[in-house]
Amino acid sequence: MTGRSFLFLLASTRHGGNTEALARHAASRLPSDVEQRWLRLDELPLPLFRDVRHEGEGAYPVPTGAERLLLDGTLDATDLVIASPVYWYSVSAAAKLYLDYWAGWLRVPGVNFKARMRGKSMWAVGAHTSADAASIEPFRGTLRLSAEYLGMRWRGALLAYANRPGQVLADEDALRRAAEFFPPNR
Ligand SMILES: Cc1cc2nc3c(=O)[nH]c(=O)nc-3n(C[C@H](O)[C@H](O)[C@H](O)COP(=O)(O)O)c2cc1C
Repeated sequence: MTGRSFLFLLASTRHGGNTEALARHAASRLPSDVEQRWLRLDELPLPLFRDVRHEGEGAYPVPTGAERLLLDGTLDATDLVIASPVYWYSVSAAAKLYLDYWAGWLRVPGVNFKARMRGKSMWAVGAHTSADAASIEPFRGTLRLSAEYLGMRWRGALLAYANRPGQVLADEDALRRAAEFFPPNR
């Protein structure tokens, strides 16, 4: 075993979309001794995040339910892959909400979230319909800066133009880039 464990967070609002297809193609090239776990954020709904950071100790209790599953999955992974379509130049609402929860997890007593996230790798996969590379920068920047805030290693974004579900599977260049996205070794 390499000890590497990838958590893929699927953050599209549809199943069988291009982001998932691209992520699965990239993951198919991971060595077999690398553990893979896949979670769909739409099957693990979180309530709107509440900013109670300044309401005293214990304002963020130990999570339960879907939130607990996401927190534990995040902490157990060595590599986190946010698989989100580009929505309004950035990540989908589900992916953004997951990132908002990091602000609470940083303050849950006993979790030590920041120290345990430090050094993990963060990757992004996303489909988009933009002809203008600059308009995808907020997507990339949101994820890179969020990873760096926690001292994670930003490993880059795999992005491909696609609109109708499955369209990305006809894009040979995107599939080649997907196949090369995760290097076999760190
Ligand atoms: C709510 C919404 C917002 C979108 N915003 C953008 C955008 O800002 N830039 C872009 O290039 N594509 C945008 N798109 C297009 C999607 O990124 C594209 O259709 C993508 O293939 C969807 O990914 P999926 O197949 O994984 O669901 C948007 C789509 C939706 C539904």
